[in-house]
Amino acid sequence: MPITLTIDELEPGMRLAQAVYNNAQLILAAGKTLEDWEIDGLRRRFPQITVRVGDPLLDEWVDFQDDSREQTVAVTVNRRMARMMQTVRSKLGTQTALEGPDLIALQVAVHEMMIYIQQNPVAAAMLMHMAEGSDYLQEHAANVFYLGLLIGSTIREYVYLERKRTTRARDLAVRFGMNLTPLAIGCLLHDLGMIALEPLLNKPGPLDATEREQVNRHPLLGAEMLPKQMDAVCRMVIRTHHENCCGTGYPSSVPSDSLHVFSRVIRVADAYDAGTSRRCYRQAKSAVRVLWEMSVGPLKDLYDPVVIRILTSLIQPFPIGAKIRIHDGRYVVVVRHNRKHPFRPTAIIAFDEHGNKLKKSQLRQPIDLSQNEDIRLIRYAEEDLAFLNDTVDFVAAPVSAGQAGEVDSMFNMVYP
Ligand SMILES: [Fe+2]
Ligand SMILES: [Fe+2]
Repeated sequence: MPITLTIDELEPGMRLAQAVYNNAQLILAAGKTLEDWEIDGLRRRFPQITVRVGDPLLDEWVDFQDDSREQTVAVTVNRRMARMMQTVRSKLGTQTALEGPDLIALQVAVHEMMIYIQQNPVAAAMLMHMAEGSDYLQEHAANVFYLGLLIGSTIREYVYLERKRTTRARDLAVRFGMNLTPLAIGCLLHDLGMIALEPLLNKPGPLDATEREQVNRHPLLGAEMLPKQMDAVCRMVIRTHHENCCGTGYPSSVPSDSLHVFSRVIRVADAYDAGTSRRCYRQAKSAVRVLWEMSVGPLKDLYDPVVIRILTSLIQPFPIGAKIRIHDGRYVVVVRHNRKHPFRPTAIIAFDEHGNKLKKSQLRQPIDLSQNEDIRLIRYAEEDLAFLNDTVDFVAAPVSAGQAGEVDSMFNMVYP
């Protein structure tokens, strides 16, 4: 199995351990032996992607975590929901609102995907990010749907308890309290209000005050575009998807105490996908950078710590096979994700300080980096990881003292 390499590290003769996709379309099949012209093509079209190639020696030596099922689920959901969003957009181009049959088709698609995800539980979320020129809103809607639903399904108990805490009804039926449909539909349609503002999404420079105001209204606009018969909770999810857990955010700066648990889930799913997507005014940030910023870095106060804890357990900041430079110049290859310490996976030292592959006689057993703090991660795929080494304690850092007990007990409930 696999070493995950950047396009620049590929060489002719390497064998793909995993298929290469763009917009959920297959570009190169797993098992393909790469030729010069194919590497050139990848370099030209998708300069930023990483590719998994086989390494028979490591494969024989180590039991890599297998996340092929995760990839299949991600591609299936992304393809179906991106197609759904394409239909929604073309309908909205010819009429002002979603109407009867279109709405039913959308509800059916969401329902089917919810069942699919339930029947195909995954341990890790893998989002699809595409080449330049792909349809951002479509891809983003599909990713937020997928991630929002995975987070929601993982913390159903928390969803129920939080809905119960914030509802005025005395007895919230468990079935109703745990129903994730409004969250799922809200996630898919959350940026409906941005469709009319798409030129602003593609504006290379900063927005002026009027444009900023228009963008700040897109949650309200989107909620208004929903058909009348749409669930009120779903409308609320769309209206509040940019509200922050600390009481800031737009359009209403809802105080944190009254922010619905679905709003907190979609906020996290939306911010993660937006951060890791390439936009015309900036490069995509890496998964590790965005996860760090959201969980322990400068943005951590914006999000619900319970939801963030689930996010960091679902997203692999370093994919299986990632080749990471360590403090002494050698390279490790990631073997297994660590759900509790996402920035400290299990990895094997597989390359010397000159980048040469170690021979079988030089290989040792994989190392659990969460138990070996002396090994510092320095660089991954052109990214300087110095910021990670400022993070003293991942577990303690993201929450305030008052929240710590709640987060820990919730986390232990989800991952006993
Ligand atoms: Fe938005
Ligand atoms: Fe969004």
